[in-house]
Amino acid sequence: MKSKKHLPLALYSAVLLSITGFKPTSAIAQTSEVTVSSLAEEQMYRPNFHFTPKKGWMNDPNGMFFANGYYHLFYQHYPDGNKWGPMHWGHAISKDLIKWEELPIAIYPDKDKYIFSGSAVVDTHNTSGLGTGKTAPIIAVYTLHDMTKEKEGKIDVEQQDIAFSNDNGITWQKFEEGNPVVKNPGIRDFRDPKVSWDETHKQWIMVLAAQDRAQFYKSSNLKNWEFVSEFGKNIGAHGGVWECPDFFEIKVEGTKEKKWVLIVNLNPGGPNGGSGVQYFVGDFDGKTFTMDNSFAERVKNEKGVWTDYGKDNYAGVTWNNVPTSDGRRLFIGWMSNWDYAQQVPTTAWRSSTTIPRELQLIKKGNYYNLISKPVRELDNYVAETISAKSLNGKGNLTLVKDGFNDLTQSVISLDLKNLKQSNYTFRLSNLDGESLSFGLNNKENYLFIDRSKAGKIDFSDKFASTVSKAFLEGSQKSAAFKIVLDKTSIEIFYNNGEKVMTEIFFLNKPFSALSISSKEKIEINNFKIQELNVAKSH
Ligand code: FRU
Repeated sequence: MKSKKHLPLALYSAVLLSITGFKPTSAIAQTSEVTVSSLAEEQMYRPNFHFTPKKGWMNDPNGMFFANGYYHLFYQHYPDGNKWGPMHWGHAISKDLIKWEELPIAIYPDKDKYIFSGSAVVDTHNTSGLGTGKTAPIIAVYTLHDMTKEKEGKIDVEQQDIAFSNDNGITWQKFEEGNPVVKNPGIRDFRDPKVSWDETHKQWIMVLAAQDRAQFYKSSNLKNWEFVSEFGKNIGAHGGVWECPDFFEIKVEGTKEKKWVLIVNLNPGGPNGGSGVQYFVGDFDGKTFTMDNSFAERVKNEKGVWTDYGKDNYAGVTWNNVPTSDGRRLFIGWMSNWDYAQQVPTTAWRSSTTIPRELQLIKKGNYYNLISKPVRELDNYVAETISAKSLNGKGNLTLVKDGFNDLTQSVISLDLKNLKQSNYTFRLSNLDGESLSFGLNNKENYLFIDRSKAGKIDFSDKFASTVSKAFLEGSQKSAAFKIVLDKTSIEIFYNNGEKVMTEIFFLNKPFSALSISSKEKIEINNFKIQELNVAKSH
């Protein structure tokens, strides 16, 4: 078995190598037994309010949909190991996207036939005919990955299959007689179908990742699919294979204009190494996606535009079937990176999801920007708020004194005013002298996170060897930060989500202090720490 299942095989990697310079890593033998979680591990590393499986390995979020008052989250899961292995679809539900309840495994692999990533739709009008008439059938569309064929070096390793549920997504049956619904056309990496209802053109659409392109298919019944177009040749970032695409129509905030957004996950080749989530904005005529001209320019100039510039937001996709009365486009990502996900220092489980986020499309001048904000449901868990209208200082300003203990579940927000072309560095620290720095370099115009002193880092030389950066257009006069902190993660939402950075860390003691330093005068408005209590009943 390989350290990561879809390592390119010799044949197609030669093609990829010539396009992208991507070099496959060698296969590594796995030891991946799940042990019982120690109390210390639970206390230090089990997040307070980010979803983790109780035991075993997790990667991509899959098949998310909303129905009957519940948000469903499925995920790539290997319950018997803490490294990637035979892929199942794990399952969790939530009424509010914050508190999750893990349910029994939804879809099991057959021997050597793994259930890879995909999506699920509520087939309200039973277009598939797979419903039994009582409740709308839920149809999951996923990639079946054949490990035997992979080991034999075959090309047609991946195909798209469906499974259906007639009890609102709790139990599932594979559609044995009709699978595959999309055969492999001779492309080795051919996976991660995202299916959704296209209300504008009254059709089901599927976007999937085909090596380093996105392919579009349409259907009227979820069972017969017609290929309609392809997108991506020489467009955007191509540092590795494209994976886990998503595609949806979205209103431009404050206008009546609608645009289509194509999300494409990419591994490797992310903005700060390893995995990353890029996106494209444009129009869709029911068959072909065409990028908006100004966005195309932006993609070219920036060599890819990303929903998150931190190292730890991957395979992010959005929920289907969120009621129009709610109207939000809700996103969640896997809070890790293939560069080191299988080495992070937890043993009983590995990985968590990002905080669910609301995506919005805004237009500034000529440019469209997909912004992300933590979902507003998080506000319902604020137990205590500490705030200050304004704070000023020079040199080093303490924002939270050592001893304040619940930085492990908090949201910190503040506005920096009257900025000079200087560095503004926040420092989270603990009583063991561990620290994480982040902030704004307003001379060279970027946001950054540096976790090189934040506890355990030596499990992988890719984890903390570089400072992650998100470049901004020019130096800033003011800057608004919203920072979501859990035991092992920081999610920075800059200027209302215009730039986002998400990273994980593994401390030996929780962070208990926060300061900011600069050579220039520091002027802070609207400082607020919200302590969360997600354990409290709701
Ligand atoms: C992304 C990914 C998908 C694939 C899944 C397998 O992280 O590689 O492309 O379906 O993981 O677990």
